[in-house]
Amino acid sequence: MSSNILLIPGPIVISENVQAALGTPSLSHTGPEFAAIFCSTLQKTRKLFKAGETAQPVLLAGSGTLGWDVAASNLIIPGERVLVLSTGYFSDSFAECFQTYGAKVDKLTAPLGGQVPVSDVREALANGHYKMISITHVDTSTAVLNDVRSICRVVKEVSPETLITVDCVCSVGCEKLEFDAWGIDYALTASQKAIGCAPGLSISMLSERAVGVALNREAQSSFFASLKRWIPIMQSYEKGSAAYFATPAVQLINALDVAIGEVLKPGLDARIAKHRDISNWFKSKVTEELGLKLVSANERVSAHGLTAIYVKNPPEVISALKKSGIVIAGGIHKDIKGEYIRVGHMGESACNDSLQHIQKCYDALKSLNL
Ligand SMILES: Cc1ncc(COP(=O)(O)O)c(C=O)c1O
Repeated sequence: MSSNILLIPGPIVISENVQAALGTPSLSHTGPEFAAIFCSTLQKTRKLFKAGETAQPVLLAGSGTLGWDVAASNLIIPGERVLVLSTGYFSDSFAECFQTYGAKVDKLTAPLGGQVPVSDVREALANGHYKMISITHVDTSTAVLNDVRSICRVVKEVSPETLITVDCVCSVGCEKLEFDAWGIDYALTASQKAIGCAPGLSISMLSERAVGVALNREAQSSFFASLKRWIPIMQSYEKGSAAYFATPAVQLINALDVAIGEVLKPGLDARIAKHRDISNWFKSKVTEELGLKLVSANERVSAHGLTAIYVKNPPEVISALKKSGIVIAGGIHKDIKGEYIRVGHMGESACNDSLQHIQKCYDALKSLNL
């Protein structure tokens, strides 16, 4: 395997302990040893989302995208209305997923690099009967951070019956997130970003009322993604007793248990502060010293797990960095695809100072005289 420094916005560099956990011998997925590991992972997942006993964690084999299918096929009945706040490629794809399952989607699209104004959200909610609003906490295509807390407040005020769904794929573990306190109903993420595990797990949290919607649903729109099937399995594992619907990804769950343990060890808030500091440092160096412009419009709307930077010739920059042993990503927003690069600074690369990954990336960019 390559020894390049992987600084794309996920998958990210993982710790040695997580790598070791991935390589452990197989266990029976219905045996007591694995049941204990799964139980521990589910309990840690609650802490990661700041979710209490009434919330329901769900860990499934699959990528982050599976969380979209879970939301669209369990919480929405065909014909129901969903308000999507779009801050880029991932918000738009989530909207497409809702439509695939028959939802009627209205989209509020933010100006490129910015957020949808909260006043627009208020107006839309006041004028439509939305079953759900969906917010992408960090749209990884633009590195725009949404103010989820303020949007939740507006929803509770104007349309309290609307379910709040948040795509947290690029935010859990590196941005402030308070599932219970903000009143989120469904939050989804994936294992390969700031949590610091390998790709392959869809990680979700449901509020009590979202669990009610999923369990009371009569016609099922999906088979593997059915929460009616999975919730009892998760509840059984969390009580320490195995149950079967489909085989869980045993080694990945084991690695996730270790990875979340590492996230929680310094304290979640400390870890988030570390991401903010590294991100602020990198963004200020790139803008002030290299004179480059970011895709995210200002500090208030900038994500802390990645930076999207306009450069003249992205393929040239990406391949020059690769020659220095640093792998970064290109742009994916449809309007500016060929105009920018994306640098991920999550997990080990952001938090393990001895690695100096972000310093090395900055030095490599600087040496290019951009
Ligand atoms: C914000 C966001 N949502 C959803 C996804 C989809 O996740 P996955 O690629 O794991 O399916 C990604 C992937 O990068 C993402 O960044």
